Amino acid sequence: MTLTTSPAADEATALPGARLSGRVGAPGDKSISHRALILGALAEGLTEIEGLLEGEDVRRTAAAAAAFGAGVARLGEGRWRVTGRGGLSEPAEVIDCGNAGTGVRLLIGAASGYDLAASFTGDASLRERPMMRVLEPLGQMGARWLGREGGRLPLTLRGGQLRAIDYRLPLPSAQVKSALLLAGLNAAGQTQIIEPSPTRDHTERMLRAFGAAVEVEDRAEGRAIRLAGGQRLCGRSVRVPGDPSSAAFPLVAALIAPGSEVTVTGVMLNPLRTGLFETLRDMGADLVTANVREEGGEAVGDITARHSALKGVIVPPERAVSMIDEYPILAVAAAFAEGPTVMGGVGELRVKESDRIALMAAGLSACGVTVEEAPDGLTVVGASGSNHPVRGGARVRSAGDHRIAMSFLVLGLAALAEVTVDEAGMIATSFPSFHALMRSLGARFV
Ligand code: S3P
Repeated sequence: MTLTTSPAADEATALPGARLSGRVGAPGDKSISHRALILGALAEGLTEIEGLLEGEDVRRTAAAAAAFGAGVARLGEGRWRVTGRGGLSEPAEVIDCGNAGTGVRLLIGAASGYDLAASFTGDASLRERPMMRVLEPLGQMGARWLGREGGRLPLTLRGGQLRAIDYRLPLPSAQVKSALLLAGLNAAGQTQIIEPSPTRDHTERMLRAFGAAVEVEDRAEGRAIRLAGGQRLCGRSVRVPGDPSSAAFPLVAALIAPGSEVTVTGVMLNPLRTGLFETLRDMGADLVTANVREEGGEAVGDITARHSALKGVIVPPERAVSMIDEYPILAVAAAFAEGPTVMGGVGELRVKESDRIALMAAGLSACGVTVEEAPDGLTVVGASGSNHPVRGGARVRSAGDHRIAMSFLVLGLAALAEVTVDEAGMIATSFPSFHALMRSLGARFV
């Protein structure tokens, strides 16, 4: 009897020499997809979602919404209906959030406001990720929990009888902010969160769209967000805009693969998410945004990337919050640039789906790129913008991290020799159509 599958079963190899061209739609935004399902479950009535990202992470949140008592139905591709019961009820099963930090942290926050017990777990990566950042302030609000050492999953939450909190985020995290706002919806009094640097504001925007009053005020000490407890949400229709974090992969592929020109349509342009595009432009990237319009309460546009001679830059640490998920693919762009690109003040990258600083450093070195790792950053020394001497020719470890896997497959398209990624199946957590979409542009994977 075989107990393990072949280690090669899940790997993928990107073949060099790609010349990418074409026009593709961006997949639905992951952050907004999670929130649409969770708010739909908290609300009263019907929430019809269009363009939902049907990645593994979001499917877990859909299953969780159903376990907490909402009606959840898939009507067609990206079209889902959530029938909210105006609150959450006690789930009879353990909530398994898979790989999704956003899913579990927001659900823990939302569930804290109800008189219920709920047990949460996740995959090996999620079970190692820090949860105290949400549990500690939720505990101050009155939630109780029992988990593993350091508050890690699996854990059981006991919610109900919350008091509002006035809380200054010790680290910029949209997940922590969102968890506390969702808990605050059902707490006695007014919850106030102060974030020293503004993080993605999708929860605030969507809460308003569902009928809640949320006040936002920019002050010298940061952005204050206030929400009174006891507010009811009303179901509504949600159109999910395209994910800039996913659009980043085909766009960077076009920038580094000679002769390429790619347009990704419907990309969300919320300024709290577009730091990568700003940085790439600083590096000399030919990136043109056109047809800017509003969709589902967010600005979206079509972005065209043409192969460009890139130069290294120092990425301002204060920009990190608007591009936190994009450092792996930025490090790939930096490998094809002229001179060093310095990415500092990003210690948070060590507690994402993997230790992204260590994995990018290891994978880039294996591909022949000079890198220097720091406790809270990474410097990538690109050899040249014009000769493309990134060697590639390596088998890279992704530790089950979807964005590391996609980043190295993109690198392999423009390197001198093919690049293999060990666990490409995990790409389905955020970008299930990655291979098909990239192939439609001319990428070759085996
Ligand atoms: C997210 C917030 C970010 C980001 C994650 C999605 C969200 O995490 O890395 O992929 O949807 O709120 P942090 O809040 O930990 O910075």
